[in-house]
Amino acid sequence: MSRMSSALSAICIVFLGIMRVSAVDTFPKKFVAVQMNSDVTLHCDTTDQDVTWQYDSDELEASEDIRLEGNKLILKRIEEEQAGNYTCWRNNEIVDYTYVLLDMTSHITDLTINCTAETFNCTFNISCNMNQPAFNYFRLRNKRDNSNWVMPSEDGAFHLTHSTNPYAEEAKQLEVIGEAVSSSDRYFKISHNFYLRDIIKPACPEVSVNKRKVNLAPPPTWAKPTSYYPLDHEIQCKNLDDGKEKPCDLDHDNKVPKGTSELRVRCRDSLLLSQWSDWTPWHNVHKNRRNNRKEGKRMGRKETAKNGKKRDS
Ligand SMILES: *[C@@H]1O[C@H](CO)[C@@H](O)[C@H](O)[C@H]1NC(C)=O
Ligand SMILES: *[C@@H]1O[C@H](CO)[C@@H](O)[C@H](O)[C@H]1NC(C)=O
Ligand SMILES: *[C@@H]1O[C@H](CO)[C@@H](O)[C@H](O)[C@H]1NC(C)=O
Ligand SMILES: *[C@@H]1O[C@H](CO)[C@@H](O)[C@H](O)[C@H]1NC(C)=O
Repeated sequence: MSRMSSALSAICIVFLGIMRVSAVDTFPKKFVAVQMNSDVTLHCDTTDQDVTWQYDSDELEASEDIRLEGNKLILKRIEEEQAGNYTCWRNNEIVDYTYVLLDMTSHITDLTINCTAETFNCTFNISCNMNQPAFNYFRLRNKRDNSNWVMPSEDGAFHLTHSTNPYAEEAKQLEVIGEAVSSSDRYFKISHNFYLRDIIKPACPEVSVNKRKVNLAPPPTWAKPTSYYPLDHEIQCKNLDDGKEKPCDLDHDNKVPKGTSELRVRCRDSLLLSQWSDWTPWHNVHKNRRNNRKEGKRMGRKETAKNGKKRDS
């Protein structure tokens, strides 16, 4: 008999274990985050004082750590196993629920949100990254401009909208709030404050090279007028003979030094000394190589012409 009941309870434990896995599959609509060992009061959204509470379909009974007070449920000294969905009921009908998450915010010390913006213009998004091992779901929101929560897009970054006026001095910092939950009902919240001007990272500049003469233009997303938003450029060249990369100065005609095979460029805001943009891809600047390619094309065309003739004859 006792063996059977222990077998039964083993099954129950396994079953409950499976139930717990179904915990959070994204952010619960209604939740409270509670630090372990602290108390929390849940409110049932009704004026009726005669309600019951359920957790994992078990009706809760008052005990030392569980107080039932009218439409309130007070959980004392929350433990790990108590996280989850609490529902309140009246006349066998569900009235309300609150999901209890374990607040790990004070344990998360190594997390940073980092954000960049390609330009000052509010028609462009701010792009942010946030990650933390053992957490599965993340969301961010720009609190200063009262924006909605944003989930990561396919590239893993969060694209936040903002309402910064590019022509005015930015008076107030953006406040980006991040939240995360794990499938084991853990939660944290973090906030990151910054001025848009401090997270500027331009897109790659536009580069064209004609007879070793380099033409640089701002990235298409960069703010205008260019005189008001000047950019610094840094150019790297690759030696033709040994393939070595080195910083490279253009001469007064904007020409690359002789003996250069390829170059690439990056830019930054010269007044703010913003972050550098990513490097552009390498651009081929060596004349002979271009000719070789043209030669190849011409040969190819000759080849097909010959073949054509063959087919004709
Ligand atoms: C909690 O329970 C309520 C009521 O059954 C349900 O609507 C809600 O989706 C549940 N939340 C989660 C995160 O399971
Ligand atoms: C921001 O985060 C991304 C992705 O984690 C990383 O590649 C990049 O170096 C970070 N930038 C800064 C300035 O920390
Ligand atoms: C900004 O983000 C929104 C929402 O993700 C997206 O629809 C829009 O295309 C983005 N705009 C720009 C300029 O990247
Ligand atoms: C901001 O973007 C809009 C649309 O792309 C453009 O019309 C406007 O001139 C831009 N403002 C600045 C300061 O670049």
